[in-house]
Amino acid sequence: MNIAIVGGTGTVGAEAARELAARGHTVRVLSRHAPEYPVDLTTGEGLERALAGIDVVIDAASGGKKVLVAGTERLLRAEAAAGVKHHVGVSIVGIDRVGGPYYKLKLAQEAAIRAGGVPWTIVRATQFHTLIAQVFAKSAKLGVVPALGAPLQPVDPREVGRVLADTAEGEPALGLVAFAGPEVVSARELARRWRAAVGSRAVPVRLPASRALRAGGLTDATAPRGTVTFDQWLSAA
Ligand SMILES: NC(=O)c1ccc[n+]([C@@H]2O[C@H](COP(=O)([O-])OP(=O)(O)OC[C@H]3O[C@@H](n4cnc5c(N)ncnc54)[C@H](OP(=O)(O)O)[C@@H]3O)[C@@H](O)[C@H]2O)c1
Repeated sequence: MNIAIVGGTGTVGAEAARELAARGHTVRVLSRHAPEYPVDLTTGEGLERALAGIDVVIDAASGGKKVLVAGTERLLRAEAAAGVKHHVGVSIVGIDRVGGPYYKLKLAQEAAIRAGGVPWTIVRATQFHTLIAQVFAKSAKLGVVPALGAPLQPVDPREVGRVLADTAEGEPALGLVAFAGPEVVSARELARRWRAAVGSRAVPVRLPASRALRAGGLTDATAPRGTVTFDQWLSAA
């Protein structure tokens, strides 16, 4: 298959690109800084050329409203014009249970995909191990580590990349597919594990969480699970 991955230079997009190329597909990596297929979702620049002859698009781009909502609408119009048969979106477990500006944008992006006129599947994943580690590392530079009072279920982005590859190879589900990490762990425990793994002396700071977060709003007990725990990922990183 000819598969285009928008955001194919990003964390999960790059994993999906690697996986699909290894499975023998023709993969085009699209992003603002992609060397062969530079595209900008906020303007539509490059999309017509990049989507010519493409069967499936995975949209793993990230950004603000201009990328996630207007950019997705623009991308879907370009896909429809190019005759793309399947649009695979990447979203987040629990965005309809937990509020917040970014999750509202992700819900609007999902609505744009449903209304976009291209057969679609949305893969909702939990937080990537990379994201959790980045958040801890960034705040540790200021001497603290956020210790949120809520459970999370972090997942290895490489395993999410494989799920995106499976999804791209399958038929459009016209629905949601969820994928979560192997264990539900409190964010405080994740902070403790991260500090131990990297030898950080940053001070954990307890952060209160909303009721929805405390109730496990970002976790999914019934979704298929990856196998790589946060600890295993940390020791391999
Ligand atoms: N991070 C998580 O824990 C997590 C969990 C579940 C779901 N998700 C979802 O997964 C998706 C990917 O997240 P990620 O963390 O892998 O992203 P990321 O590492 O931040 O990568 C973002 C990608 O988007 C591209 N991009 C940004 N602006 C663009 C534009 N205007 N036009 C075209 N491409 C653009 C970037 O490349 P250039 O800079 O070269 O343009 C890059 O390839 C997002 O939809 C996110 O909501 C993330």
